[in-house]
Amino acid sequence: MKYFYKTLPVLCVFIEGLLAGPWSAWMPEHIRAFEGTCVVIPCRFSYPDELRPSAVHGIWYFNSPYPKNYPPVVYKSRTNIVHESYIGRSRLLGELNLRNCTLQISRLSPELAGKYYFRGDLGGYNQYTYPEHSNLEIINKPTIESPPEIVEGTEAELRCVVPDNCPNMKPIVTWMNHGALAEHSVYAQVEEESSTWSLVSLLKFLPSRENHGREVGCKVSYANTTFEFDSVSTLDVKFPPRIMQVNSSVEVIHGSQVVLICSVDSSPMALISWLREDEVLHEDLANNLTLYLDNVTHLEDSIYTCVAENIYGRDNHSLALSVLYAPWKPVVNTSVVAIEGEPVTILCSSQSNPEPTITIFKDKKAVAMGVYQNQVALEFDSVTHEDDGEYWCTAENQFGQSSTAFNLTIEFAPLILADSKCTAARDTVKCICAAKSNPEAVITFELPTRNVTVNETDREFVYSQKTGYIVTSILTVQREVDSQLFIVCSAKNLYGTKNQQLQFHHSNSLMWAKVGPVGAVVAFAVLIAVVCYVSQTRKKKNMNESSSFMQTENPPVVFSGDYKGPGNLEKSESKEICSLESH
Ligand SMILES: *[C@@H]1O[C@H](CO)[C@@H](O)[C@H](O)[C@H]1NC(C)=O
Ligand SMILES: *[C@@H]1O[C@H](CO)[C@@H](O)[C@H](O)[C@H]1NC(C)=O
Ligand SMILES: *[C@@H]1O[C@H](CO)[C@@H](O)[C@H](O)[C@H]1NC(C)=O
Ligand SMILES: *[C@@H]1O[C@H](CO)[C@@H](O)[C@H](O)[C@H]1NC(C)=O
Ligand SMILES: *[C@@H]1O[C@H](CO)[C@@H](O)[C@H](O)[C@H]1NC(C)=O
Ligand SMILES: *[C@@H]1O[C@H](CO)[C@@H](O)[C@H](O)[C@H]1NC(C)=O
Ligand SMILES: *[C@@H]1O[C@H](CO)[C@@H](O)[C@H](O)[C@H]1NC(C)=O
Ligand SMILES: *[C@@H]1O[C@H](CO)[C@@H](O)[C@H](O)[C@H]1NC(C)=O
Ligand SMILES: *[C@@H]1O[C@H](CO)[C@@H](O)[C@H](O)[C@H]1NC(C)=O
Ligand SMILES: *[C@@H]1O[C@H](CO)[C@@H](O)[C@H](O)[C@H]1NC(C)=O
Repeated sequence: MKYFYKTLPVLCVFIEGLLAGPWSAWMPEHIRAFEGTCVVIPCRFSYPDELRPSAVHGIWYFNSPYPKNYPPVVYKSRTNIVHESYIGRSRLLGELNLRNCTLQISRLSPELAGKYYFRGDLGGYNQYTYPEHSNLEIINKPTIESPPEIVEGTEAELRCVVPDNCPNMKPIVTWMNHGALAEHSVYAQVEEESSTWSLVSLLKFLPSRENHGREVGCKVSYANTTFEFDSVSTLDVKFPPRIMQVNSSVEVIHGSQVVLICSVDSSPMALISWLREDEVLHEDLANNLTLYLDNVTHLEDSIYTCVAENIYGRDNHSLALSVLYAPWKPVVNTSVVAIEGEPVTILCSSQSNPEPTITIFKDKKAVAMGVYQNQVALEFDSVTHEDDGEYWCTAENQFGQSSTAFNLTIEFAPLILADSKCTAARDTVKCICAAKSNPEAVITFELPTRNVTVNETDREFVYSQKTGYIVTSILTVQREVDSQLFIVCSAKNLYGTKNQQLQFHHSNSLMWAKVGPVGAVVAFAVLIAVVCYVSQTRKKKNMNESSSFMQTENPPVVFSGDYKGPGNLEKSESKEICSLESH
């Protein structure tokens, strides 16, 4: 009752302002009470002062202001006859003479909910039903008021509002299922609105995402009664997304299908996106989002991020997808032609996951190797002609291997090979000069004693053939009995010239030593005769042999010391020698 008194001055001012006309009343437009309890409807009324009635009476009607409609009588001061629903339930607390029409209704039941009208009866015709009325609402649940939004980590306050308009039944409000709420506290206060009163219990707490969906209750009871009313409110806690489950970094084999799942806890639902680097691959408003990658290749080998976002915040989680594949065909990127003596570096590279082992082979021997490297260097401080040749670069990992062949070409100055020599036989001398070089050497024979230099252009005396980097030239000259024949072979290319005097191998010198001087003279005479015959026939034969041997149209020919220039030299010279020797 304390609060009734407290607000009285305010009420008086209010009533004075409101009771403007001579016939007017004031009562709360709307008043609420729990079923089974009571309600006091505060009421004031006025009438013209000049009436000065001897007695003031009053009637409370239910749901209609018009007596003609015979509305249920809630209270009647003249007769005390009331509608059966109100027998023993209604009581006028106000003093009508003091223009106080305050009404109490007890043991409320749902059918008593409705509009209550007051009619003043001042005698005679001075009866008037005031249009102002009170609408009584009978409830059986307290009202739980939630703030517009409950955000994780920000203190929230729930209000349980209970009408408190029955002076002899004071409500007791308790909260239910609130024990787990963090930092909760309960505080009660009385609130007044238009002279109706409410007991408000405030539950303060610090919401967490775990509280989302939790049912919190408010219960109203009254001392010494069994009345109990309660209601439940489901907490809608807003919180930023949190990624609860997502794949960790994985290794997958080229060509396989990959499924990545991101599941999120969020309120409200988050926009979930799957990103590769910064590119959005898939996004949706959902609780979880699955990313499917078909037939993965090295292009899918990347960092993947799941990002979840709502208006309260965002979360992300990244993972690495490693796609395993066999090495690609190795690539040799360096020019592979070099000059002898130069430093050379050849790079062979490939790509694979895991990194390949790259090996460079020459003649089946490994010459360079790199383990778990995508590039290997074959390095020479100074290449030699022996490094020339075919190489293989092979890249390998557990998923396969791949190879590339390449040629290293070395350019080098001529070398005259050991089997270069002259062989004297019968009446001819045959000299072989073999030179190895790159590019191909030009071989020249010098005969200083005969003041002659010949090369391949003199096809009548020299022919050449080439096998790989080796050029072999053969010089055929007619032997002179007396002359000290010595022959120099010269091989030349753009990198240098090599000269070498060719050694003679006298195939028949040993024989002369064995048969002695006499025998030798006899044998020599016989030999001359035979040689002259044979040499004539051999000349023809040689032409046939040579065509198959050296694949050149010009066969080797006998050459005499008296050089007379090209032309029909051959015939005349051979005749000359034979005629000379036969003397
Ligand atoms: C009217 O009567 C009630 C009950 O006695 C009392 O509580 C209230 O204060 C009165 N109202 C005024 C305005 O005097
Ligand atoms: C409730 O009952 C007890 C004893 O029966 C009494 O002492 C107490 O005052 C009552 N409380 C109310 C609010 O009526
Ligand atoms: C990702 O996780 C899901 C669920 O745990 C699983 O089914 C899927 O195979 C995983 N994906 C990969 C690539 O490991
Ligand atoms: C993902 O969400 C769908 C629909 O929201 C649900 O049916 C499914 O069970 C969820 N999967 C996981 C792994 O949470
Ligand atoms: C996978 O990709 C390769 C190359 O793009 C293609 O040849 C093959 O058909 C694809 N396989 C599947 C199952 O899509
Ligand atoms: C993921 O979160 C980190 C830290 O909050 C942030 O720096 C990064 O930019 C986020 N990544 C993406 C793709 O949103
Ligand atoms: C070979 O590759 C290396 C490294 O990638 C590069 O520096 C070099 O210039 C390349 N050489 C050629 C001939 O392309
Ligand atoms: C290397 O040289 C050989 C002989 O000349 C040739 O058969 C082969 O095709 C060459 N290889 C490459 C990769 O050029
Ligand atoms: C060689 O020829 C040169 C000039 O062509 C000449 O001077 C020299 O005498 C000749 N030598 C012989 C031995 O014929
Ligand atoms: C071969 O010798 C002739 C003259 O004897 C000369 O003109 C020619 O240039 C020489 N050829 C080569 C390839 O040296």
